[in-house]
Amino acid sequence: MSYQTLLTHLDNGIFTITINRPDKLNALNKQVFTDLDAAVDEVYNNADIKTAIITGAGPKAFVAGADITEFTGLNKDEAMALAKRGQDVFFKIENSKKPIIAAVNGFALGGGCELAMACHFRLCSENAKFGQPEVNLGLIPGYGGTQRLTQLVGKAKSMELQMTAHLIDATEALQSGLVNHVTTAETLLERTKDILNIIMSKAPIAISKIIECINIAVVSDSSFTNGKNGYDKEIQAFADCFITEDMKEGTAAFLEKRKANFTGK
Ligand code: COA
Repeated sequence: MSYQTLLTHLDNGIFTITINRPDKLNALNKQVFTDLDAAVDEVYNNADIKTAIITGAGPKAFVAGADITEFTGLNKDEAMALAKRGQDVFFKIENSKKPIIAAVNGFALGGGCELAMACHFRLCSENAKFGQPEVNLGLIPGYGGTQRLTQLVGKAKSMELQMTAHLIDATEALQSGLVNHVTTAETLLERTKDILNIIMSKAPIAISKIIECINIAVVSDSSFTNGKNGYDKEIQAFADCFITEDMKEGTAAFLEKRKANFTGK
């Protein structure tokens, strides 16, 4: 299948999905979500695909976040639908029976960090930078970041990173448990494939059961908890922020390339 915003390539059981909007630092717009959803369906349904890699096009970014230009003019219900859509696609990645690994080749910010965290684990190149800078826009993460970052790096670090919008580099991401390995930019895909080749030499049913059991240890999606959990709370809180003056100011400031002036309204 071919996609508007993705490049895909299947080689010896490894399906590489490359988000391909390098001039916008691979920001996640509606079309990327449509394409990513369909590409993950391919992972689920194509028997020739044994494992997958998600990465970004270009030398600079994995994904620099949700596409901020699409935030303008959304009402609260539309903001909830936006967050729900992102969470659903990311749950599909997280619950894939076949391993899906992120190869983070630069900025992984906001929705980009959330996408990487929805993958089963992550490798990154030395130039990678991670963060949840939504607070700079008067917002919070909406695609699972409040939950998965906390699972991966712990409560205190997650609080600080999300409150300060501080970006961490590859070394700190490794120390924090956000990534498993750091490589050079040139060897990132090769190293990721080496690990996937080891995984593909094991029993596929056992691998799928490992994913299922480990996810039960850390994931609490709505199907388990009648819609009362952190992910649903995040959708509500994201939409609550969405209709504030500060969110309008924060996104306008980003688009106008100036510093935001927040007033608490
Ligand atoms: N949404 C939409 N467009 C984005 C984007 C996003 N999340 N991130 C980057 N872009 C666009 C920029 O607007 C710019 O487009 P232009 O050339 O048409 O002006 C292009 O990608 C290149 O980005 P630029 O900001 O010029 O690169 P930089 O090297 O100066 O800065 C970042 C890189 C990642 C620090 C900066 O782009 C950034 O802060 N992005 C937003 C991060 C964010 O807040 N993510 C969370 C969103 S919820």
